[in-house]
Amino acid sequence: MKTQRTRYDRPVEVAPGIHWVGFHDGYSNFHCNPYLIIEGDKAVLIDAGSRADFPVVMRKILQTGIAPEQIVALIYQHPDPDLCGSMANMVDLCANEALTILSDRANNVFLSFYLERERRGLLRSMDDRGMVFSFNGRELRFFKTPFAHTAGSLVTYDPRTRTLFSSDLFGSYSQRWDLFLRLDDQCRSCDAYDTDGPCAYGKPYCPLTDLLAFHRQVMPSDKALHRAMKVIGGVGAERIAPQHGSIIDQQEDIAFLTGCLAKLTGVGIDGLSGNGA
Ligand SMILES: [Fe+2]
Ligand SMILES: [Fe+2]
Repeated sequence: MKTQRTRYDRPVEVAPGIHWVGFHDGYSNFHCNPYLIIEGDKAVLIDAGSRADFPVVMRKILQTGIAPEQIVALIYQHPDPDLCGSMANMVDLCANEALTILSDRANNVFLSFYLERERRGLLRSMDDRGMVFSFNGRELRFFKTPFAHTAGSLVTYDPRTRTLFSSDLFGSYSQRWDLFLRLDDQCRSCDAYDTDGPCAYGKPYCPLTDLLAFHRQVMPSDKALHRAMKVIGGVGAERIAPQHGSIIDQQEDIAFLTGCLAKLTGVGIDGLSGNGA
C-alpha cells in the first residue's frame, strides 16, 4: 500500500492481486492508470494505456512477474487513445490462445481501428458474456455507464477486493499527483471547493478543484454524469481506481465524491452559455 516512499518507477500493488502499472509523469502530472489483475498464473489488463506509455507499462507488467502471454484479457472501458493507443502492441506481445479483447459492443466499432484487420476477431462484447468475465475463478463484473463519457462507456468491478475500475469517472487533472487521494474532515465539509479562490483552510492544493474541472470538461452533460453516479453508488465499492487521477480508498471519500459528482452542474454541454458560445 502507499507510503511516502512509494516508488512510482515500479508497479504498485494497490489491493490483493491488483497492480498499478502506469507511467509516472512528473512533468505533466496528467496520468493514465492501467491496472493489472493477477489471479494465479493468469492476468487481465484494464485500460492498457497510450502508445507512448507502452514500453513503461510493459516493463512494469514484467516486473510483477507476469509474462505477456499469461494475460488472457485486455479490457477497454471506452475507446479513447489514452487507454487504447497501445492495443496493437499489447495484442502482439500477449498473443495466446485464450486472449480476448473485451468491451461494450458500442465501443468495439471504434476499437477495431486500433487493430490490424486480421486481429479484429479478438474483440468481444461484454453483453455476450452476461456482463461477467472469469479467469482462474476470479470474477469481474461490468456495469454500463452510457455517455460517461462515450456511448459504450462501462466500469469494471472486482468483488474479491471490492475495487471498482471507473475509467474516466473519478478522474482528475491532478496538478499535484499521488497514486492515492485521501481527504480529511475539512475537505469533506468544505463548501468552497467549487470556487476559483484559494483553499478556505489555507492548504496549498485543492484536489477537488481539479477533479470537478476534469468532469466538467470530459463528461458530456449533467444527466450523463448523474446517471453514472447512480450506477456506481449501487455497486458498493470500497476502492475506486480511475484511469486518471488517484485511487480513492477511504469510505467517507467515496461517499463524499460520489455525492459531489451526483449533483455537479455545468458539465459538458450544460456548461455552455445560452447561445452555445
Ligand atoms: Fe476518455
Ligand atoms: Fe481517459
